[in-house]
Amino acid sequence: MSLRVLVLGSGAREHALAWAIARSPRCGALCVAPGNGGTAGLADNVGLDPADASAVVRFARGNAIDLVVIGPEAPLVAGVADALRSAGVPCYGPSAAAARIEGSKAFARSVMERAGVPHAPGAAFDDPAVAEAYLRTAPEPPVVKADGLAAGKGVRVPRTRAAAVRAVRAAMVRREFGDAGRTVVLERRLVGQEVSAHALCSATNAVLLPFARDYKRLRAGDRGPNTGGMGVYSPPPFATPELATFVLERVVRPTLAELAARGAPYVGTLYPGLMLTDAGPHVLEFNCRFGDPETQVLVPRLTGDLLNALHGAARGTLPSDLEVRPEAAVGVVLAAPGYPTDPRTGGEIVGLDEVDPDVLIFHAGTRRDGRRLVTSGGRVLTVVATGSTVAEARRRVYANVRRVRFPGRQFRIDIGLEAV
Ligand code: AMP
Ligand code: GLY
Repeated sequence: MSLRVLVLGSGAREHALAWAIARSPRCGALCVAPGNGGTAGLADNVGLDPADASAVVRFARGNAIDLVVIGPEAPLVAGVADALRSAGVPCYGPSAAAARIEGSKAFARSVMERAGVPHAPGAAFDDPAVAEAYLRTAPEPPVVKADGLAAGKGVRVPRTRAAAVRAVRAAMVRREFGDAGRTVVLERRLVGQEVSAHALCSATNAVLLPFARDYKRLRAGDRGPNTGGMGVYSPPPFATPELATFVLERVVRPTLAELAARGAPYVGTLYPGLMLTDAGPHVLEFNCRFGDPETQVLVPRLTGDLLNALHGAARGTLPSDLEVRPEAAVGVVLAAPGYPTDPRTGGEIVGLDEVDPDVLIFHAGTRRDGRRLVTSGGRVLTVVATGSTVAEARRRVYANVRRVRFPGRQFRIDIGLEAV
């Protein structure tokens, strides 16, 4: 039976998901809401707000949609998956109750504590005076995290106690992140290698996808401000089979069991961000969705049918495995000038027709303007190449990045270099 699919979101992650879904022999019709200049060539872009639950339900029912795949965290935390399920529309993405694993860092800590999942020692506070008192006696300045969603900006890793106090006051007193900073988590700073894990989950079943490593800082050498992600590669050299077993058995399964025991069974992608420390892997955070830009390098490495897996997960029949090809993939994000603070958009993008045929371009901030393609957001495109090694994928991706041009484009030259 062919499936009519709706993907919610507008980033390169959603373009990559739509690309993988469109390749499935089971894909009958594909819509992306609201989509972008890249999904327009692959699917029907629909002018729907992903956070407007009743509009999404109306569209899904009116268009006989068989599966909704929710890309970003905000609609998940707001309960769009719940609205779809109660209207009888199968959905890949957790309920609001289960999405709290990302929506509240205090909740995630309580789940990890109960489930025995390794994480940094720390505590949650809702009184700034109590938080400051804790901070003054902590052996070293702790990491300061706004409890709620803060568009990836809610975490500070202060070098001094004074900076930590400032971060607490900014979140809790000045409400720099709005209500997301009403509660703050303080936790020990962990040291090690960071890696992203992704598991497709259906209640207590899970399939682990390959590991990936993303780069959050704007400039090479991990300098400059934090961004939504400037590049990614997979697999990282430290992603061993032992690490995969650890993540599945000591992180993903206990978390799923604890959520199910709390009456919030998890259906969707569970993405733990991990720090590989001398004392073993520790969870830094949970995300309730696919990573961006991780998805852009994960989907080209999957040979299995992603649509089949997502549809199965939504209906309680997640396949036990998803085939992965051994080749590596490297993704480089091209960003607009001024990104991340003050991106300038409207520049014409040229050279897309010059890239090698097997190189993938996933759009984020792009828009069609007549026959031209122009930038319309901070992160504009992710260019992805595969190769038999990370080194080869890296060579190929940068040879092609050079051909894709728009005024003032920014990109990092060191994506995947650590693995070469
Ligand atoms: P999050 O938004 O929770 O992913 O945190 C953003 C970034 O902050 C992570 O990718 C890490 O680089 C850093 N971070 C979070 N928690 C810790 C921690 N306990 N120790 C060191 N770095 C951390
Ligand atoms: N790669 C970071 C994120 O998706 O949150």
